[in-house]
Amino acid sequence: MKNIFHPLVENPYRKKDIDAAVKVLKTNKITIGPITNKFENIFRKKLKTNFSLMVNSGSSANLLALQCLINPYRKQRLKRGDEVLIPSLCWSTSLWPIIQSGLIPKFVDVDVNTLNINIEDLKKKVSKKTKAILIVHVLGNCTDMNELMKIKKRNKLILIEDTCESLGTKFKNKYLGSFGEFSTFSFYSSHQISSGEGGMLCCQNNEDYEIIKSLRSHGWSRGLKNETKIAKNNRQLDKRFIFYNSGFNLRPTDVSASIGLSQFRDLNKFMKIRTANRQMIINEIKKNFIVNNNLFITKENNFVKASWFGIPIILSKKISRENFIKGIEKNGVQTRPIISGNFLKQPSIKKYKLNKNLKLKNSDYINDHGLFIGLPTKLMTKINVKKLVKVFEKNI
Ligand SMILES: Cc1ncc(COP(=O)(O)O)c(C=O)c1O
Repeated sequence: MKNIFHPLVENPYRKKDIDAAVKVLKTNKITIGPITNKFENIFRKKLKTNFSLMVNSGSSANLLALQCLINPYRKQRLKRGDEVLIPSLCWSTSLWPIIQSGLIPKFVDVDVNTLNINIEDLKKKVSKKTKAILIVHVLGNCTDMNELMKIKKRNKLILIEDTCESLGTKFKNKYLGSFGEFSTFSFYSSHQISSGEGGMLCCQNNEDYEIIKSLRSHGWSRGLKNETKIAKNNRQLDKRFIFYNSGFNLRPTDVSASIGLSQFRDLNKFMKIRTANRQMIINEIKKNFIVNNNLFITKENNFVKASWFGIPIILSKKISRENFIKGIEKNGVQTRPIISGNFLKQPSIKKYKLNKNLKLKNSDYINDHGLFIGLPTKLMTKINVKKLVKVFEKNI
């Protein structure tokens, strides 16, 4: 590859993010602590969710949401074999926690225009065995949340919103991640904000919050609301070391929380610049007949104010995706598939015998004709915008 002039990810860390991390390092208290707590509270208030817990990745947030759903302390828990609907355009760890929790994923197709779950296919796939929907808000866009919430209500389904790619997006003035019983976020370095590695899990009720808090930290009773009561009921044990639940260790550090919080404070600023860059690219494409007729940039769905971190592109059928990608990468534009394409095509699916000859044509179409490029948080120069569109033209 020549010099990369349009990377997928720039270095997301600014001086103030690093300074915040160094300040924590100097306290010698690097593990989970007051900064994590502060970040969780500020996050929860902004998104208007009832509870937020920071974890060490978006994948961990998904795992904990699913594990909470089957936990014996949950009054209305899911049982082994219950079905969870999921779009086939998803990330690996959107899917695997369903299977790891003894539940059955049922794959739903997506829309080519929005990249998000297809409401009509969703309606068809709901059965008596369906107990939950795990939707993935793809790359800052989302499905028609009004329709989705109607299906959820009508069928009494639990909703998990994998919002790992869509922090900051609003549907009808309400943040994604505030619709479902659970929502998950990722602060991996390529996303809307970054904490290095990190994630957030939001939930709406206290029962789930207490379960997740314990699962996140070894199953410990430490920090739970009824910690004292648990200790009283277990007098034979050292009250500081009581394991009340099953558990993992998926805690973040205060170092990553400090970076995440520093970036979260500037989420709106990042969104503004990214939106401006996206608009400049779209305007330039519109001026170019060849590019405009062969390369389709995913638009915001109705009622959506999107927080993009990349530009999803669907190529016209006559262009070879492979050649196009090879060409533009050679000219300094980094690319990647939209999430991971149709996840049903992955070898892990075959190994676990999860695809019973299901054909999902829109997911296949996005797999075969889709890609995405980065969207910087610094304002692009006009020269680079023109150069990008010229590179597209050259490779059509
Ligand atoms: C939709 C989706 N869910 C979950 C994840 C996992 O997040 P993390 O990388 O923080 O584990 C990703 C990662 O990119 C993702 O795109």
